[in-house]
Amino acid sequence: MMLSTDIGIDLGTSNTLIYERKKGIVLNEPSIIAIDKRSNKVIDTGNNAYKILGKEPKNIKIIYPLQNGTIIDIDALELMINEFIKKIKTNNMFIKPRVLISLSADLTSLEKDVIKEIILKLGARKVYVEPSIKTAAIGIGMNISEPIANMIVDIGGTTTDIGVLSLNDIVKYSYVKIGGKTFDEDIIKYIREKYKVLIGESTAETLKINHLNVYKEDNHTVEIKGKDLISGLPTTISLEKNELKYAIKENLNKIIKEIIHILEQTPPELSADIVEKGIVITGGCAKMKGLLELINKKTNVPIFIAEYPLISVIEGSGKLINELKLIDEDQ
Ligand SMILES: Nc1ncnc2c1ncn2[C@@H]1O[C@H](COP(=O)(O)OP(=O)(O)OP(=O)(O)O)[C@@H](O)[C@H]1O
Ligand SMILES: [Mg+2]
Repeated sequence: MMLSTDIGIDLGTSNTLIYERKKGIVLNEPSIIAIDKRSNKVIDTGNNAYKILGKEPKNIKIIYPLQNGTIIDIDALELMINEFIKKIKTNNMFIKPRVLISLSADLTSLEKDVIKEIILKLGARKVYVEPSIKTAAIGIGMNISEPIANMIVDIGGTTTDIGVLSLNDIVKYSYVKIGGKTFDEDIIKYIREKYKVLIGESTAETLKINHLNVYKEDNHTVEIKGKDLISGLPTTISLEKNELKYAIKENLNKIIKEIIHILEQTPPELSADIVEKGIVITGGCAKMKGLLELINKKTNVPIFIAEYPLISVIEGSGKLINELKLIDEDQ
């Protein structure tokens, strides 16, 4: 690993972001890799691999090496991280950077060690592992150093992390293995069962991003292209936007239930802070329309959506990398 300087990494199950000290975000790509099954050679990673997802020939396997908060393929993960580091290499020949990696707190310590080892093997001098719920809070600009409770919910690709932070530490933490990909699958399943039509992952994601509102009633329709399961032929159906809301409702409610559960479990002094200061929602799914209204209605607590939810973790990792003194050097 020949890098000019220290770096921060947000290794998400959907997206990987890299921050270079003093430079800012230098990489932001899907956490995905395409590998030739016969030769085990890397065909592509990130954006380019995502473009061929669902269209790949049989000899190519395309995988997200991290899924549902677990490593499903260590070799693929190593190759992917390796490729990402290669992409950001500059001409400067500084070596052995320090790396701060933000990981979901639900990964086991064994998995965290595996990831740490991969990065050390690539030539890092030191690897710091920080829980992404904490770097997200720092990235959003929450002041977590005071004895005041800060509640944050990060709804990512496959995991929702929920945390209450105070005095630079996590006071309460929980997670649900539900995220944007779960909602995509819910939409696929709903359309398959109701219309007997099969749609792909990226079609489902596009529907979620462009047409879903989790709060508002909307009976406008949207045309969807898919494959008729009975005839096997391409077909077009028309779907009411409301149906998308119904499709994901159950899983979204599980997230809200867990938020309520954490609120109930938080000691009174801290929950008073939360009621006053509210809950910040971040992660890619924070962009789902109607989310603020829905969670506010169900919890009765003020809700704020992070301004840039897809980069809060990496922004926080960047802040820590820029002032490494914030981290225990002996970690
Ligand atoms: N505008 C949008 N509306 C709705 N969902 C969105 C939008 N933009 C991104 N998403 C969803 O956000 C998810 C990815 O979020 P994010 O990048 O925070 O995940 P991650 O950090 O990689 O995953 P995890 O935290 O679970 O490891 C995807 O499922 C994506 O479809
Ligand atoms: Mg994340």
